[in-house]
Amino acid sequence: MRLWAPAKLNLYLRVVGKRPDGFHELETLFERIDLADELTFKPHPTNLQLTCSDPALSCGEDNLILKAARALQELTGTEQGAHIHLTKRIPIAAGLGGGSSDCAAALSGLNKLWDLDIDQQTLVQVAGSLGSDVPFFLWDVPFAIGRGRGEQGEPLETALTLAQVLVTPDAQLSTKEIFQAARFDLTATAPSLKLTAHALRNGSLRELALGLRNDLEPEAIRRCPIIAAVQSKLREFGCLGVCLSGSGPSVFGLCKDLVHAQEVMTKVRLIAKPTWHLSVVTTEQMGASQS
Ligand code: C5P
Repeated sequence: MRLWAPAKLNLYLRVVGKRPDGFHELETLFERIDLADELTFKPHPTNLQLTCSDPALSCGEDNLILKAARALQELTGTEQGAHIHLTKRIPIAAGLGGGSSDCAAALSGLNKLWDLDIDQQTLVQVAGSLGSDVPFFLWDVPFAIGRGRGEQGEPLETALTLAQVLVTPDAQLSTKEIFQAARFDLTATAPSLKLTAHALRNGSLRELALGLRNDLEPEAIRRCPIIAAVQSKLREFGCLGVCLSGSGPSVFGLCKDLVHAQEVMTKVRLIAKPTWHLSVVTTEQMGASQS
């Protein structure tokens, strides 16, 4: 069995407050994009094993794919195993939710492979216990509003398919460290999620560009100043709006359409370092599809 695990962008991320458990209360707007990892699953009677195309990634018990598998074994008591191979295409620790998406794909893949018949609500609960962004990838919608830690949400209906230029400079930022070090202005008002969500629902790209927001941006730029330089280049090259995704360092530029995004990317290639990850991405309408 083969599953796609798509990346996400945060079109909006506002920190609403700090919680007693150390996490932050968020309002966020997720978009699923067509940059994806690939997971293949082979059944095994007892042995659970993970391999990966990228040697930089740990394939040990700390990997969210194995954490997902262990959580399902614990929940159901099954002792079945699997050989899982991950083909990594989403940059690691880049604010694109790659690890979370792999985790969600492992949950739904193993649920099928092991014939566990776990209902969607329970699967989403397990997902939320493994990471704040994991449930989004199980909701099976291209756009969603996330609240709480980001793990509670509602789909956002729109006819839009967005086209973006995605630039990931070669710095890995720790989400935990960024959240802990960031200073948030909890009274800041504009732009509001309501306006951004409204622009997306109504298909107004210009309004959406004005509504892009990420409260983690100042701290991410402080640690990785190249983010600000990339943003200013994307504006100069004609993007309608630019924003950091998650805790960075990935930056996206919103474009009018795919052709516009490809034109902008031609210019980005001339100034990018060879070690940066560059791609033109569009909203992924299909879910974690099986192939
Ligand atoms: O949930 P996840 O494991 O992806 O979060 C990684 C880290 O990011 C957490 O340990 C926490 O420090 C921080 N975080 C937060 N508030 C959130 C989500 C994440 O403080 N809503």
